[in-house]
Amino acid sequence: MKAKLAVLASGRGTNLQAIIDAWRQGNLPVEIVGVLSNNPSAPALARARANGIATAVLELSDYCHRNCYGEQLLKQLHAWQADIVALAGFMFLIPPLVVTKFRHRILNVHPSLLPSFKGLNAQKQALEYGVRITGCTIHLVDEGLDTGPIVMQAPVPVLANDTVESLSARILKEEHRLYPEAIRLLATGKIKVRGRKAIILE
Ligand code: GAR
Repeated sequence: MKAKLAVLASGRGTNLQAIIDAWRQGNLPVEIVGVLSNNPSAPALARARANGIATAVLELSDYCHRNCYGEQLLKQLHAWQADIVALAGFMFLIPPLVVTKFRHRILNVHPSLLPSFKGLNAQKQALEYGVRITGCTIHLVDEGLDTGPIVMQAPVPVLANDTVESLSARILKEEHRLYPEAIRLLATGKIKVRGRKAIILE
């Protein structure tokens, strides 16, 4: 049985596209059961629809704060019978309720070499700090912000004339290369967690 994958995305969805492409090419042994966004106009939703994948929108509202949002998110993931979840530019912290139910079954992609430059605008943070090397990280999600066990990382050099845009574009290429592979590892049970470390069994 193939693992059922749900993808959560807030924006343009190029990582989602990389996942869909790998899946279409037969390189990702999952069933993509749905794409959920907190943003009804996210291009990621259009990418899902163009590929015949179910979509859902869950907007944050004044009367639905973190716990209520977590319950609704969980309800949708259960409705899709999702086994694993990939955050692909999902700009919202996953509520603890969902982390607990999907412990070690949620992956996130982040555009820095964690634990450096957590949170928003990681590429800008790296440029402003003046690091010579940054990159991207795929990690399991825990209750913290970008703190979960690291599954894969790729370095990207920072060039003297880099802008946020040029650096982000080179990091994004690495994200697209790594993310389908990390999802494959999770989907096939090749990631085990010992303490704060993710161990890869192949
Ligand atoms: C990606 O660069 C991803 O690493 C980043 O958002 C972008 C989404 O792009 N995620 C974060 O910063 C999460 N903290 P995409 O919508 O084209 O996949």
